[in-house]
Amino acid sequence: MKIAVVKELAPGERRVAATPETVKKFKALGAEMAVEQGAGLTASIADADYAAAGAVVADRAATLAGADIILGVQGPEPTSLAGAKPGAWIAAGLNPFGDRARVDAYASAGFEALAMEFMPRITRAQSMDILSSQSNLSGYKAVLDAAYEYGRAFPMMMTAAGTVSAAKVFVMGVGVAGLQAIATAKRLGAQVSATDVRSATKEQIESLGAKAIFVESVKGIEGEGSGGYATEMSDEYKAAQAELVSSHIAKQDIVITTALIPGRPAPRLISDAQLASMKPGSVIVDLAVEQGGNVEGAVAGEVVERHGVKIVGHRNVPSRLAADTSALFSRNLYNFLSAFWDKEKNAPVLDEEIGNAIRLTQGGKVVNERLLG
Ligand code: NAI
Repeated sequence: MKIAVVKELAPGERRVAATPETVKKFKALGAEMAVEQGAGLTASIADADYAAAGAVVADRAATLAGADIILGVQGPEPTSLAGAKPGAWIAAGLNPFGDRARVDAYASAGFEALAMEFMPRITRAQSMDILSSQSNLSGYKAVLDAAYEYGRAFPMMMTAAGTVSAAKVFVMGVGVAGLQAIATAKRLGAQVSATDVRSATKEQIESLGAKAIFVESVKGIEGEGSGGYATEMSDEYKAAQAELVSSHIAKQDIVITTALIPGRPAPRLISDAQLASMKPGSVIVDLAVEQGGNVEGAVAGEVVERHGVKIVGHRNVPSRLAADTSALFSRNLYNFLSAFWDKEKNAPVLDEEIGNAIRLTQGGKVVNERLLG
């Protein structure tokens, strides 16, 4: 069983899918490990560290040759996998809805593509969940990015020259990233409020010491679909939410938006008119910018200014903390493969529940029901 770790080729991607720690652990399971030269450099890991952990460090062709499993952070382009065995597994974040053409190309090349973001949200798979591990650090970084762009301090400070007032931070979308954003903004001393469509988050917001801002007037909303994810809301709800947000947002200094609905464009939460009601110098960080954006006027990969408000739209926020996010991503991959390791076969054997959820392609075909339906 040979496991190959390839260097990420997508522009701006600094993470890597294995660390010396996970290389050692895979070796202890009985796998042979190959790491492409320079794969870890942008995440502060030297080739020598992989070699010391027991990996063979080589060029891409030698790394891929004969590999049974290829690990990546993002899905490698099929054309960059020349020489890899047909039938090899590719385990990575494959963006199946956003990059369907690549999924089809994996199928025609005969790879078995495993989309780590399709990991079911069940207790035993929590340690394998890349969406959680990466979102958590994105939520943290979003607050630091906001603090960097904001021309004032976060905490209240009483000085001899007078008082600096605390920043008001509003977090929209309280999943994994939003919860970490609340906690981080609180730690920096801001006055924090937050909202979500899932009523279960109200208690979580309050337990972090933030104020919950919720639509109470529309009956029958739970906002929770399968797997703890949000569902698309009714028009009545959307109107009530827009009204509530309009009155609240005008008083905020910083807004962090994280709202996503799986397989759909991100919901629009802030309009240009709402933006215009904010104080000049306010900052919005749109973590959903690459899925279509929660904020009107947000541009992926840019910090733009509208009505005196900065809208931060960094791409690939997890990559901005590449050393930590790589360590967690790598452990997610190790936790996944090791949980299914069959000692006799010296290979992982997936069960139906997880295998069917994450397997996109097999035997030359797209097989995942979320892509077929
Ligand atoms: P996500 O990244 O899909 O969405 C972020 C947040 O945006 C969610 O809380 C969602 O409800 C919210 N949202 C969607 N539309 C909105 C709108 N119009 N207005 C305001 N907010 C809106 O969510 P994430 O971070 O993946 O977490 C979703 C849930 O799944 C959480 O309850 C989390 O605790 C749970 N979870 C469970 C896991 C497990 O059991 N293995 C692992 C990870 C998360």
